[in-house]
Amino acid sequence: MTTTPTLAVAEAANAIFSTNYIPVAVFVGGTSGVGQAMAEAFARQTKGFAHIIIIGRSAAAAERILADFPKPGPLKTSSGWAHEFVQCDATSIKSVRVACGALRARLGRINFLVISAGGPMANSMVLSQQIPEGLDESLAMRYFMRYTFLKELVPLLESARKEGQHAHFMTIQGAGFGASIPTQDLGLQEAKKHAWNFTKGMTPVGSLFFAYNDGLVAYFAAEHPNIAFTHISPGQVRTVGGAISTMGWLFAPLKWLFNTLKAIMGTSQDESAQYMLYALLDSSAERGVFFRGSRGQVISSHVSDVDHKGWEDFALPTAHKAGVFNGFTLKGYGGSDATVSGLIHYTEKVLGDIE
Ligand SMILES: NC(=O)c1ccc[n+]([C@@H]2O[C@H](COP(=O)([O-])OP(=O)(O)OC[C@H]3O[C@@H](n4cnc5c(N)ncnc54)[C@H](OP(=O)(O)O)[C@@H]3O)[C@@H](O)[C@H]2O)c1
Repeated sequence: MTTTPTLAVAEAANAIFSTNYIPVAVFVGGTSGVGQAMAEAFARQTKGFAHIIIIGRSAAAAERILADFPKPGPLKTSSGWAHEFVQCDATSIKSVRVACGALRARLGRINFLVISAGGPMANSMVLSQQIPEGLDESLAMRYFMRYTFLKELVPLLESARKEGQHAHFMTIQGAGFGASIPTQDLGLQEAKKHAWNFTKGMTPVGSLFFAYNDGLVAYFAAEHPNIAFTHISPGQVRTVGGAISTMGWLFAPLKWLFNTLKAIMGTSQDESAQYMLYALLDSSAERGVFFRGSRGQVISSHVSDVDHKGWEDFALPTAHKAGVFNGFTLKGYGGSDATVSGLIHYTEKVLGDIE
Protein backbone atom coordinates (compact mmCIF):
# COMPACT_ATOMS: atom_id res chain seq x y z
CA MET A 1 0.00 0.00 0.00
CA THR A 2 2.38 2.77 -1.11
CA THR A 3 0.10 4.82 -3.34
CA THR A 4 -1.91 7.75 -2.03
CA PRO A 5 -5.50 6.62 -1.68
CA THR A 6 -8.55 8.64 -2.57
CA LEU A 7 -11.15 8.98 0.15
CA ALA A 8 -13.26 6.31 -1.58
CA VAL A 9 -10.32 3.90 -1.64
CA ALA A 10 -9.57 4.52 2.05
CA GLU A 11 -13.22 4.03 2.99
CA ALA A 12 -13.48 0.86 0.94
CA ALA A 13 -10.34 -0.56 2.59
CA ASN A 14 -11.67 0.28 6.05
CA ALA A 15 -15.03 -1.27 5.22
CA ILE A 16 -13.54 -4.72 4.78
CA PHE A 17 -11.78 -4.68 8.16
CA SER A 18 -12.96 -7.46 10.43
CA THR A 19 -11.44 -9.70 13.08
CA ASN A 20 -12.24 -13.12 14.47
CA TYR A 21 -11.70 -11.74 17.97
CA ILE A 22 -13.00 -8.70 19.84
CA PRO A 23 -10.51 -5.91 19.10
CA VAL A 24 -9.31 -3.73 21.96
CA ALA A 25 -8.68 -0.16 20.79
CA VAL A 26 -7.48 2.75 22.92
CA PHE A 27 -7.77 6.32 21.63
CA VAL A 28 -5.86 8.87 23.69
CA GLY A 29 -7.59 12.07 22.58
CA GLY A 30 -10.82 10.30 21.66
CA THR A 31 -13.03 12.99 23.17
CA SER A 32 -12.64 15.44 20.27
CA GLY A 33 -10.90 16.05 16.96
CA VAL A 34 -9.31 13.36 14.84
CA GLY A 35 -9.21 10.89 17.75
CA GLN A 36 -12.94 11.24 18.33
CA ALA A 37 -13.69 10.71 14.64
CA MET A 38 -11.40 7.65 14.55
CA ALA A 39 -13.06 6.10 17.60
CA GLU A 40 -16.49 6.73 16.08
CA ALA A 41 -15.52 5.26 12.72
CA PHE A 42 -13.95 2.25 14.44
CA ALA A 43 -17.14 1.73 16.48
CA ARG A 44 -19.27 1.91 13.31
CA GLN A 45 -16.99 -0.47 11.40
CA THR A 46 -17.07 -3.07 14.20
CA LYS A 47 -20.80 -2.40 14.76
CA GLY A 48 -19.87 -1.68 18.33
CA PHE A 49 -18.58 -5.22 18.80
CA ALA A 50 -15.23 -4.06 20.21
CA HIS A 51 -13.65 -2.92 23.43
CA ILE A 52 -13.12 0.77 22.80
CA ILE A 53 -11.53 3.04 25.38
CA ILE A 54 -11.37 6.77 24.85
CA ILE A 55 -9.02 8.80 27.02
CA GLY A 56 -9.18 12.55 27.68
CA ARG A 57 -10.24 15.00 30.35
CA SER A 58 -13.85 15.77 29.44
CA ALA A 59 -16.29 13.22 30.89
CA ALA A 60 -19.23 15.12 29.40
CA ALA A 61 -17.84 14.91 25.87
CA ALA A 62 -16.99 11.24 26.35
CA GLU A 63 -20.50 10.44 27.56
CA ARG A 64 -22.04 12.04 24.46
CA ILE A 65 -19.66 10.25 22.10
CA LEU A 66 -20.00 6.80 23.69
CA ALA A 67 -23.80 7.10 23.80
CA ASP A 68 -23.84 7.38 20.01
CA PHE A 69 -21.68 4.30 19.37
CA PRO A 70 -23.66 1.43 17.84
CA LYS A 71 -24.39 -1.32 20.35
CA PRO A 72 -24.16 -5.00 19.44
CA GLY A 73 -27.43 -6.96 19.42
CA PRO A 74 -28.67 -9.09 22.35
CA LEU A 75 -26.87 -12.22 21.16
CA LYS A 76 -23.53 -10.51 21.64
CA THR A 77 -24.17 -8.80 24.96
CA SER A 78 -21.98 -10.90 27.20
CA SER A 79 -19.12 -11.48 24.79
CA GLY A 80 -16.65 -8.94 26.13
CA TRP A 81 -17.38 -5.81 24.15
CA ALA A 82 -17.29 -2.54 26.07
CA HIS A 83 -17.22 1.18 25.36
CA GLU A 84 -15.65 3.23 28.08
CA PHE A 85 -14.00 6.46 29.07
CA VAL A 86 -10.83 6.81 31.11
CA GLN A 87 -10.24 10.27 32.50
CA CYS A 88 -6.65 11.45 32.48
CA ASP A 89 -4.92 14.80 32.22
CA ALA A 90 -2.03 13.75 30.01
CA THR A 91 0.10 16.77 30.88
CA SER A 92 0.75 14.90 34.13
CA ILE A 93 3.11 11.98 33.61
CA LYS A 94 2.10 10.66 37.04
CA SER A 95 -1.56 10.57 35.96
CA VAL A 96 -0.63 8.83 32.71
CA ARG A 97 1.22 6.16 34.67
CA VAL A 98 -1.75 5.66 37.00
CA ALA A 99 -4.16 5.36 34.05
CA CYS A 100 -1.87 2.89 32.28
CA GLY A 101 -1.32 0.84 35.44
CA ALA A 102 -5.09 0.48 35.81
CA LEU A 103 -5.40 -0.58 32.16
CA ARG A 104 -2.62 -3.13 32.54
CA ALA A 105 -4.31 -4.56 35.62
CA ARG A 106 -7.56 -5.32 33.82
CA LEU A 107 -6.80 -5.68 30.09
CA GLY A 108 -5.14 -8.79 28.75
CA ARG A 109 -4.09 -7.07 25.53
CA ILE A 110 -4.41 -3.98 23.34
CA ASN A 111 -4.66 -4.31 19.57
CA PHE A 112 -4.67 -0.63 18.62
CA LEU A 113 -3.18 2.22 20.61
CA VAL A 114 -3.70 5.61 18.99
CA ILE A 115 -2.51 8.94 20.40
CA SER A 116 -3.94 12.09 18.87
CA ALA A 117 -4.26 14.41 21.89
CA GLY A 118 -2.19 17.46 21.05
CA GLY A 119 -3.25 20.09 23.54
CA PRO A 120 -3.21 23.81 22.79
CA MET A 121 -2.41 24.66 19.20
CA ALA A 122 -0.55 27.77 20.39
CA ASN A 123 2.59 25.72 19.97
CA SER A 124 4.85 28.71 19.48
CA MET A 125 6.41 27.48 22.74
CA VAL A 126 6.60 31.12 23.72
CA LEU A 127 3.13 30.65 25.08
CA SER A 128 3.67 27.15 26.36
CA GLN A 129 3.87 27.05 30.15
CA GLN A 130 6.00 24.99 32.46
CA ILE A 131 3.65 22.61 34.22
CA PRO A 132 3.85 21.40 37.86
CA GLU A 133 5.93 18.29 37.10
CA GLY A 134 8.55 20.56 35.52
CA LEU A 135 7.94 19.82 31.84
CA ASP A 136 7.02 22.28 29.14
CA GLU A 137 3.32 21.78 28.40
CA SER A 138 3.65 21.47 24.61
CA LEU A 139 6.57 19.08 24.89
CA ALA A 140 4.67 17.03 27.48
CA MET A 141 1.60 16.67 25.23
CA ARG A 142 3.41 16.18 21.96
CA TYR A 143 6.12 13.87 23.18
CA PHE A 144 6.59 12.90 26.84
CA MET A 145 3.07 11.66 27.49
CA ARG A 146 3.14 9.73 24.20
CA TYR A 147 6.40 8.06 25.18
CA THR A 148 4.93 7.22 28.61
CA PHE A 149 1.67 5.78 27.25
CA LEU A 150 3.62 3.64 24.81
CA LYS A 151 6.23 2.47 27.28
CA GLU A 152 3.57 1.57 29.87
CA LEU A 153 1.22 -0.16 27.43
CA VAL A 154 3.60 -1.84 24.98
CA PRO A 155 3.43 -5.11 27.00
CA LEU A 156 -0.29 -5.26 26.13
CA LEU A 157 0.49 -4.78 22.44
CA GLU A 158 3.03 -7.59 22.77
CA SER A 159 0.34 -9.80 24.34
CA ALA A 160 -1.99 -9.16 21.40
CA ARG A 161 0.76 -10.05 18.95
CA LYS A 162 1.55 -13.26 20.84
CA GLU A 163 -2.07 -14.26 20.33
CA GLY A 164 -1.62 -13.71 16.59
CA GLN A 165 -3.75 -10.55 16.60
CA HIS A 166 -3.26 -6.98 15.39
CA ALA A 167 -0.76 -4.96 17.42
CA HIS A 168 -0.37 -1.39 16.18
CA PHE A 169 0.70 1.86 17.82
CA MET A 170 0.01 5.17 16.08
CA THR A 171 1.09 8.68 17.03
CA ILE A 172 -0.63 11.45 15.07
CA GLN A 173 1.64 14.47 14.84
CA GLY A 174 3.73 15.37 11.78
CA ALA A 175 5.57 12.65 9.90
CA GLY A 176 7.57 13.00 6.72
CA PHE A 177 9.24 16.36 7.29
CA GLY A 178 12.73 15.02 7.92
CA ALA A 179 13.16 17.19 11.01
CA SER A 180 16.37 16.62 12.96
CA ILE A 181 16.37 15.78 16.64
CA PRO A 182 17.90 18.83 18.40
CA THR A 183 20.47 16.87 20.37
CA GLN A 184 22.06 19.95 21.97
CA ASP A 185 18.74 21.41 23.04
CA LEU A 186 16.46 18.51 23.89
CA GLY A 187 14.56 20.56 26.47
CA LEU A 188 13.97 23.13 23.68
CA GLN A 189 15.04 26.04 25.89
CA GLU A 190 17.05 27.68 23.07
CA ALA A 191 14.44 26.92 20.43
CA LYS A 192 11.79 28.43 22.64
CA LYS A 193 13.78 31.68 22.97
CA HIS A 194 14.09 32.03 19.21
CA ALA A 195 10.64 30.82 18.27
CA TRP A 196 9.50 34.27 17.17
CA ASN A 197 12.84 36.03 16.90
CA PHE A 198 13.00 37.20 13.28
CA THR A 199 16.55 38.53 13.58
CA LYS A 200 17.98 35.22 14.79
CA GLY A 201 15.88 33.22 12.39
CA MET A 202 12.65 31.74 13.66
CA THR A 203 12.96 28.24 15.04
CA PRO A 204 10.20 26.06 13.64
CA VAL A 205 9.48 24.58 17.05
CA GLY A 206 6.44 22.68 15.79
CA SER A 207 8.63 20.66 13.44
CA LEU A 208 10.91 19.70 16.33
CA PHE A 209 7.97 17.87 17.89
CA PHE A 210 7.77 15.90 14.64
CA ALA A 211 11.39 14.82 15.09
CA TYR A 212 10.70 13.61 18.63
CA ASN A 213 7.80 11.50 17.35
CA ASP A 214 10.00 10.07 14.58
CA GLY A 215 12.50 9.07 17.25
CA LEU A 216 9.76 7.60 19.42
CA VAL A 217 8.49 5.17 16.78
CA ALA A 218 11.97 4.34 15.50
CA TYR A 219 13.17 3.37 18.96
CA PHE A 220 10.16 1.26 19.89
CA ALA A 221 10.12 -0.42 16.48
CA ALA A 222 13.72 -1.46 17.00
CA GLU A 223 12.96 -2.77 20.49
CA HIS A 224 9.69 -4.49 19.54
CA PRO A 225 10.16 -5.72 15.97
CA ASN A 226 6.96 -7.77 15.92
CA ILE A 227 4.67 -4.77 16.40
CA ALA A 228 3.70 -1.99 13.97
CA PHE A 229 4.58 1.60 14.95
CA THR A 230 3.29 4.50 12.88
CA HIS A 231 3.98 8.21 12.96
CA ILE A 232 1.47 9.97 10.74
CA SER A 233 0.60 13.53 9.70
CA PRO A 234 -3.05 14.49 9.76
CA GLY A 235 -2.49 17.53 7.49
CA GLN A 236 -4.65 20.54 8.22
CA VAL A 237 -7.85 19.33 9.87
CA ARG A 238 -10.80 21.41 11.01
CA THR A 239 -10.84 20.40 14.67
CA VAL A 240 -11.54 22.54 17.70
CA GLY A 241 -8.01 21.98 18.94
CA GLY A 242 -6.53 22.57 15.48
CA ALA A 243 -7.48 26.25 15.46
CA ILE A 244 -5.10 28.77 16.96
CA SER A 245 -6.85 30.39 19.89
CA THR A 246 -4.14 32.73 21.06
CA MET A 247 -0.97 34.16 19.54
CA GLY A 248 -0.69 37.56 21.19
CA TRP A 249 -1.92 40.86 19.73
CA LEU A 250 1.08 41.29 17.42
CA PHE A 251 0.27 38.13 15.53
CA ALA A 252 -3.51 38.50 15.58
CA PRO A 253 -3.72 39.03 11.77
CA LEU A 254 -1.56 35.93 11.22
CA LYS A 255 -3.81 33.94 13.51
CA TRP A 256 -6.88 35.15 11.62
CA LEU A 257 -5.31 34.23 8.27
CA PHE A 258 -4.26 30.78 9.47
CA ASN A 259 -7.64 29.94 10.94
CA THR A 260 -9.50 31.27 7.90
CA LEU A 261 -7.36 29.29 5.46
CA LYS A 262 -7.81 26.19 7.57
CA ALA A 263 -11.58 26.67 7.67
CA ILE A 264 -11.64 26.93 3.87
CA MET A 265 -9.03 24.37 2.88
CA GLY A 266 -8.78 22.01 5.84
CA THR A 267 -10.12 18.48 5.88
CA SER A 268 -13.04 17.55 8.12
CA GLN A 269 -12.15 15.39 11.12
CA ASP A 270 -14.35 12.57 9.78
CA GLU A 271 -12.54 12.54 6.45
CA SER A 272 -9.14 12.68 8.14
CA ALA A 273 -10.18 9.79 10.40
CA GLN A 274 -10.83 7.60 7.35
CA TYR A 275 -7.25 8.12 6.18
CA MET A 276 -5.84 7.55 9.66
CA LEU A 277 -7.85 4.32 9.99
CA TYR A 278 -6.72 3.23 6.55
CA ALA A 279 -3.16 3.41 7.86
CA LEU A 280 -3.99 1.82 11.21
CA LEU A 281 -5.85 -1.15 9.75
CA ASP A 282 -3.49 -1.69 6.79
CA SER A 283 -3.06 -5.46 6.65
CA SER A 284 0.30 -5.10 4.90
CA ALA A 285 1.70 -3.10 7.84
CA GLU A 286 1.78 -5.71 10.56
CA ARG A 287 5.21 -4.95 11.93
CA GLY A 288 7.95 -2.35 11.63
CA VAL A 289 8.10 1.42 11.60
CA PHE A 290 5.95 3.49 9.23
CA PHE A 291 6.02 7.18 8.39
CA ARG A 292 2.85 8.25 6.65
CA GLY A 293 1.26 11.30 5.10
CA SER A 294 -2.15 12.85 5.64
CA ARG A 295 -3.91 10.39 3.36
CA GLY A 296 -2.41 7.42 5.07
CA GLN A 297 0.12 6.85 2.28
CA VAL A 298 3.46 5.35 3.28
CA ILE A 299 6.30 7.85 2.95
CA SER A 300 8.82 5.30 4.17
CA SER A 301 8.96 2.21 6.32
CA HIS A 302 11.35 -0.38 7.67
CA VAL A 303 10.98 -3.72 9.36
CA SER A 304 13.77 -4.36 11.88
CA ASP A 305 15.37 -7.73 12.22
CA VAL A 306 14.32 -9.53 15.35
CA ASP A 307 18.02 -9.40 16.17
CA HIS A 308 18.39 -5.62 15.96
CA LYS A 309 22.08 -5.29 16.87
CA GLY A 310 22.74 -2.81 14.04
CA TRP A 311 20.58 -0.25 15.79
CA GLU A 312 22.77 -0.34 18.87
CA ASP A 313 26.13 -0.35 17.15
CA PHE A 314 27.27 3.25 17.09
CA ALA A 315 30.62 2.31 15.59
CA LEU A 316 28.80 1.78 12.28
CA PRO A 317 29.36 4.73 9.91
CA THR A 318 25.61 5.00 9.26
CA ALA A 319 24.77 5.33 12.98
CA HIS A 320 25.37 9.09 12.89
CA LYS A 321 23.76 9.76 9.53
CA ALA A 322 20.49 11.71 9.59
CA GLY A 323 17.66 9.97 7.80
CA VAL A 324 19.12 6.50 8.34
CA PHE A 325 17.53 4.03 10.72
CA ASN A 326 19.27 0.79 11.56
CA GLY A 327 21.30 1.02 8.34
CA PHE A 328 18.34 1.85 6.08
CA THR A 329 17.71 5.24 4.52
CA LEU A 330 14.15 6.38 5.18
CA LYS A 331 12.48 9.19 3.25
CA GLY A 332 11.09 11.98 5.43
CA TYR A 333 12.91 10.74 8.51
CA GLY A 334 15.39 13.12 10.16
CA GLY A 335 16.73 11.03 13.03
CA SER A 336 19.90 8.98 13.16
CA ASP A 337 20.50 5.96 15.40
CA ALA A 338 22.83 8.07 17.56
CA THR A 339 20.42 11.03 17.94
CA VAL A 340 17.49 8.71 18.66
CA SER A 341 19.57 6.96 21.28
CA GLY A 342 20.45 10.35 22.81
CA LEU A 343 16.79 11.33 22.83
CA ILE A 344 15.78 8.12 24.59
CA HIS A 345 18.48 8.50 27.26
CA TYR A 346 17.38 12.09 27.83
CA THR A 347 13.73 11.04 27.99
CA GLU A 348 14.38 8.30 30.52
CA LYS A 349 16.37 10.72 32.66
CA VAL A 350 13.67 13.41 32.59
CA LEU A 351 10.85 10.94 33.24
CA GLY A 352 12.89 9.17 35.89
CA ASP A 353 12.97 12.42 37.85
CA ILE A 354 9.16 12.49 37.95
CA GLU A 355 8.28 10.11 40.73
N1 LIG B 1 -5.79 19.63 13.51
C1 LIG B 1 -4.77 19.95 12.71
O1 LIG B 1 -4.90 20.68 11.72
C2 LIG B 1 -3.39 19.40 12.99
C3 LIG B 1 -2.32 19.78 12.16
C4 LIG B 1 -1.06 19.24 12.40
C5 LIG B 1 -0.87 18.34 13.45
N2 LIG B 1 -1.92 18.04 14.24
C6 LIG B 1 -1.70 17.08 15.33
O2 LIG B 1 -2.52 15.96 15.11
C7 LIG B 1 -3.04 15.47 16.34
C8 LIG B 1 -4.55 15.40 16.26
O3 LIG B 1 -5.08 16.66 15.98
P1 LIG B 1 -6.41 17.21 16.67
O4 LIG B 1 -6.66 18.56 16.10
O5 LIG B 1 -7.47 16.19 16.64
O6 LIG B 1 -5.85 17.33 18.18
P2 LIG B 1 -6.45 18.00 19.46
O7 LIG B 1 -7.61 18.87 19.13
O8 LIG B 1 -5.32 18.55 20.22
O9 LIG B 1 -6.98 16.72 20.26
C9 LIG B 1 -8.12 16.83 21.04
C10 LIG B 1 -8.07 15.71 22.03
O10 LIG B 1 -6.96 15.91 22.88
C11 LIG B 1 -7.42 15.75 24.22
N3 LIG B 1 -6.58 16.50 25.12
C12 LIG B 1 -6.17 17.78 25.03
N4 LIG B 1 -5.46 18.13 26.11
C13 LIG B 1 -5.44 17.04 26.92
C14 LIG B 1 -4.86 16.76 28.17
N5 LIG B 1 -4.17 17.68 28.85
N6 LIG B 1 -5.02 15.52 28.68
C15 LIG B 1 -5.71 14.57 28.02
N7 LIG B 1 -6.28 14.77 26.82
C16 LIG B 1 -6.15 16.01 26.28
C17 LIG B 1 -8.82 16.29 24.18
O11 LIG B 1 -9.53 15.76 25.27
P3 LIG B 1 -10.18 16.62 26.44
O12 LIG B 1 -10.58 17.94 25.88
O13 LIG B 1 -11.31 15.74 26.88
O14 LIG B 1 -9.11 16.71 27.46
C18 LIG B 1 -9.32 15.69 22.88
O15 LIG B 1 -9.71 14.36 23.08
C19 LIG B 1 -2.48 16.38 17.42
O16 LIG B 1 -1.32 15.79 17.95
C20 LIG B 1 -2.10 17.64 16.68
O17 LIG B 1 -1.01 18.31 17.32
C21 LIG B 1 -3.17 18.52 14.03
